[in-house]
Amino acid sequence: MNHKYDAIIVGGGVMGGSIAYYLAKRGRKVLLLEKDQLASKSSGAAAGMLGAQAELEGDSPLFPLAKRSREMFPHLSKELKEVSGVDIEFINKGMFKVALSNEEKSALKNIMDIQRNAGEEAEWVSTEELLKVEPFLSKEIKGGMYIRKDGQVSAPQLSKAFFQSAAVLGAEIKEFTAVHSFIFEKKKAIGVETDDGNFYGENIIAANGAWSRHLLQKSGLELVVYPVKGECFFVKTDKPLLEKTIFSHGCYLVPKSGGRILVGATVKTHTFDRKVSLDGIATLMEKAKELLPVIAEAQWEKAWAGTRPQTGDGLPYIGEHPEYHGLFIATGHFRNGILLSPITGELTADLVERKIVPELDRFNLNRSLQPIVS
Ligand code: FAD
Ligand code: GLY
Repeated sequence: MNHKYDAIIVGGGVMGGSIAYYLAKRGRKVLLLEKDQLASKSSGAAAGMLGAQAELEGDSPLFPLAKRSREMFPHLSKELKEVSGVDIEFINKGMFKVALSNEEKSALKNIMDIQRNAGEEAEWVSTEELLKVEPFLSKEIKGGMYIRKDGQVSAPQLSKAFFQSAAVLGAEIKEFTAVHSFIFEKKKAIGVETDDGNFYGENIIAANGAWSRHLLQKSGLELVVYPVKGECFFVKTDKPLLEKTIFSHGCYLVPKSGGRILVGATVKTHTFDRKVSLDGIATLMEKAKELLPVIAEAQWEKAWAGTRPQTGDGLPYIGEHPEYHGLFIATGHFRNGILLSPITGELTADLVERKIVPELDRFNLNRSLQPIVS
């Protein structure tokens, strides 16, 4: 068999892009196949928060990986700009995770203690202190946790930077090419069948997000991966209303370039539908006004929806297929795929190079048959 590629990646989201980049950087001959347009699903819809501490509570098995990935961004943003010219709009101004009730306040203080005991930086700010930094926020907010290290990027720009950098380093990228199944020879994955014929490679990596379950069933693997829809919208203001990202229960406000604020996001399980519902947007608007009353006067720009890949136990699957050598899987990053993309790309490249990666033991594929929780 004449193998043309060192690695064939299925899925052109941020995970596929990152894996392609890290493999191409190591001199591997890479082909990436995307059934639609690149980053047209979850990765293009994301808010771009690097919320290691805002999204995870310190005792999650994902916390160490999330922190390591967050630390990669300052250097990565420069590296991707140098290779591709694409600016991922990395902003490192921190986040406020705020409380709107006394119950939320004590829950947040508890999380803060856990994180501080684990050696992380987190600081409680009173309502008065918060309003000094963010004078437009509601006076009803009961204070919040200041997380200095949780920054943000532009999610569409990050994906674009990974694809373009991978291409500069020699990766081939094909859009509108759906992978229908894997090709196996004995117990080894050797290629994929697509709309556009068969392609052969030494390693195949399934990074096709919420769609992984269906494709991997064809290899006998029953992964518990399911879609969770999220809706967001953009508004524009003449003068900046926020300095930092504001994260609260059920709503976040992320200040973006061009005077925009990204408001997100709804959480609707078990649907691949990506229509934006009036109900979803109305709920978000109410929550946004509770946090930042003057947002009511902002100019409407647009709304969209994406499909997060969630798993049965809330942890991603990153590892090699238990039966077929050379078939790797990297999916199920749910709410944190933008944050986790650099570390996933780097460690998946290590797996492909047959390195031992103990950090990924907890995310292996032998935990595939678990009940769905939502
Ligand atoms: P996707 O981006 O969905 O990419 C998978 C790709 O595979 C798709 O393009 C699909 O078309 C393709 N595909 C599927 N099947 C096939 C096939 N058979 N052949 C070829 N191609 C195929 N994360 C953060 O870290 N921070 C955030 O602030 C954040 N905000 C979010 C806000 C919203 C509203 C949403 C929806 C998500 C958010 N996320 C955030 C989560 C993040 O977007 C996801 O975890 C991440 O994008 C998943 O990336 P992926 O590459 O695995 O999946
Ligand atoms: N991480 C934000 C979201 O998934 O909505």
